[in-house]
Amino acid sequence: MSEGYARITGWGKYVPARVVTNDDLAKIVDTSDEWITSRTGIRERRLRGENDTTSSMGAAAGREALASAGLRPADLDLIIVATSSPDYLLPSVASQIQHLLGAACGAFTMVAGCAGWVYGLTTASQFIAAGTYNRILVIGVEIISFALDWTDRTTCVLFGDAAAATVVEASEEPGGILAMELGSDGSGAHALYVPDGGSASPISQRTIDERRQYLRMDGPDVFKFAVRTLSSSLKRTVYQAGLTPDEIDLYIPHQANKRIIETAARQLRVPLDRFYINIDRYGNTSAASVPLAMVEAIEEGRLKDGDLVAMCAFGAGLTWATVVMQMGTGELSAAYSLFSVARARFLARRASDVVFDTAQGALLPLYTRIYGLRKRL
Ligand code: ACO
Repeated sequence: MSEGYARITGWGKYVPARVVTNDDLAKIVDTSDEWITSRTGIRERRLRGENDTTSSMGAAAGREALASAGLRPADLDLIIVATSSPDYLLPSVASQIQHLLGAACGAFTMVAGCAGWVYGLTTASQFIAAGTYNRILVIGVEIISFALDWTDRTTCVLFGDAAAATVVEASEEPGGILAMELGSDGSGAHALYVPDGGSASPISQRTIDERRQYLRMDGPDVFKFAVRTLSSSLKRTVYQAGLTPDEIDLYIPHQANKRIIETAARQLRVPLDRFYINIDRYGNTSAASVPLAMVEAIEEGRLKDGDLVAMCAFGAGLTWATVVMQMGTGELSAAYSLFSVARARFLARRASDVVFDTAQGALLPLYTRIYGLRKRL
């Protein structure tokens, strides 16, 4: 990437107020705090409140991220929303969030399971590297609780609801994403899926009778895939960035199971305290998991300007996505905001858009008249 380095300039989160502990769950399914804590590292999770929707939560996190970047919604060039639990099948929840924020830019939803936000971050960095856009809001949001079978102890104890967002801006200061890996293995589709409700198997009476509208997971299979993927993808991506695992200041792994993270740390020969972990408080929040951990790491001062961070998420698909990036969490340089090449290209593009739109508006009646004349002849 020769210009337009992607820099994270704003961050925000929204977590529902309602805390549900393992003991609370032991009252509704046959489980215990001891089992959940020892097998997963989860102690509690947040579940949506009465007024929380995927769009409201995503917009709340987005608003906080914009405020911390010192931007207005109108400054955004693009909004990318990663989620597997949109408000509706249609429309795209990204457009709902764009409307709630009062932004006037393109917006699209990205579905890549728990890896969605990392996929979104790499996509944003490509728009920036290409010089197409300068300010992109990348949101990871999930109300996965609506898709859980609350009678199935093998899945309902694992997940939580949350939203987190980052503003990614173009900068001429070298940094941002140094290396990335995007992966997919659709042969594992049925290891983690919702059987009914899509075009392959629309909702029917059988859906309700057999509880096929809820998430099903082959836990041990996904566990093996996750252990394999987390350390190997991190290792490949760190080396691709020209670094070694011990040079990474902070690892931010997908918070699916603490045992998966511990195994990855052992395999990479990196001390566990170099891995950011907040699964104890939130459980697996799917596409919100990595950005939520990143936002909290920044808030706690564990991730600072110039730090090297490696993030890896994996999930339904099966998918995975890994990035190694150099943090630039501060203000953009004055040189960038006033006279940079990226800025000049951006302004030139905006100017050419205006000229084109005006010319099109002026020429259209003329074109219509000529076309009509030709038809009459
Ligand atoms: N409470 C008590 N006992 C339980 C519970 C529970 N909540 N859940 C399962 N058990 C029981 C099982 O019934 C089984 O009992 P049995 O031996 O009598 O049959 C026993 O515990 C062991 O079950 P396993 O499934 O083998 O337990 P395991 O140690 O593999 O842990 C877990 C299960 C935590 C789900 C683990 O497999 C795991 O973390 N898998 C990966 C999940 C994951 O990473 N998902 C990410 C996907 S991200 C996304 O895209 C949404």
